[in-house]
Amino acid sequence: MRQATARAHSNIAFIKYWGNQDDDLRLPVNPSISMNLDNLYTDTTVLWDDTLASDSLTINGESASGKALERVSKHLDKLRKQLQISSPAQVQSKNNFPMGAGIASSASAFAALTLAAVTAAEVELSERELSALARLGSGSASRSIPAGFVEWHTGKTHGESFAETVVQANYWDLIDVIAIVSDEHKHTTSQAGHPTAKTSDLQNARVAGAAQRLQICKQAIIDRDFSTFTEVVESDSNLMHAVMMTSQPPLFYWKPTTLTIMESIRDWRSEGLAVCYTLDAGPNVHCICISNDADTVRNRLQTLSGVIDVRVANAGGAAHILP
Ligand code: PMV
Repeated sequence: MRQATARAHSNIAFIKYWGNQDDDLRLPVNPSISMNLDNLYTDTTVLWDDTLASDSLTINGESASGKALERVSKHLDKLRKQLQISSPAQVQSKNNFPMGAGIASSASAFAALTLAAVTAAEVELSERELSALARLGSGSASRSIPAGFVEWHTGKTHGESFAETVVQANYWDLIDVIAIVSDEHKHTTSQAGHPTAKTSDLQNARVAGAAQRLQICKQAIIDRDFSTFTEVVESDSNLMHAVMMTSQPPLFYWKPTTLTIMESIRDWRSEGLAVCYTLDAGPNVHCICISNDADTVRNRLQTLSGVIDVRVANAGGAAHILP
């Protein structure tokens, strides 16, 4: 019986991943770039145990079955193959933030699961190999393995599609002030959404410009140039949501409050407050600003009706093993 516990942080993409070249391998159609979120994380313990009849899973202390267990087991099958082991696993996972509320829980969950499972099997892998393996569970999980500001290379094969650090978390004091407008579980998960991306006439245009947007965003991070960053981050988020809304079936993740916040951010910016927005596959708005402005952004968000909670996260570190 071998056991390990790993912690991995959630991440917010500035240039988004939406759609795969290969759904099974989760090879994306475009590169992406993100920031880990330091106080939003998943802690996962994996115990490889020959005496178990099958894999088991608890999430936040409650036994999980159905789709959640199936997805974890499918990922464990891929890890077993890679690690050349056959034992079932007991998996215990805890999030310190609400699941399915637009804060990517699958990224931190599959990054922590991968690192814990590999470590418990007493196999040493490079960060690049761990990132590629985490990708098989959830694409964005590849970006929760390395530290800080992270780029995920598209790649054409399993080994080529991995994420690596662009700059460490303390390089730029960006803050993600997350306006929660709904804590309901989303109707269409990212996993179900990716295969629909190619049904939108706009997807080819979004993908064609993604590498260039990534370069602009990466350079803006390196230069700590917030105004260039703002322009490219909002544009990329809008492009992804335009694809979502024009897919078959159409995916509308926004709620009325989502739009109110986006408009308010544009107004606050015209008054001189440096803040921009980006949205994942959900209605909550990630408001990105520099640390000095975080309190102002949070206070203003709290005055908007429809905002039910506000979470604040700094840039975070790499996935790691807990003692
Ligand atoms: O890793 P997934 O399958 O949960 O996809 C994540 C998709 C977005 O959050 C919408 C964008 C991204 O790059 O994180």
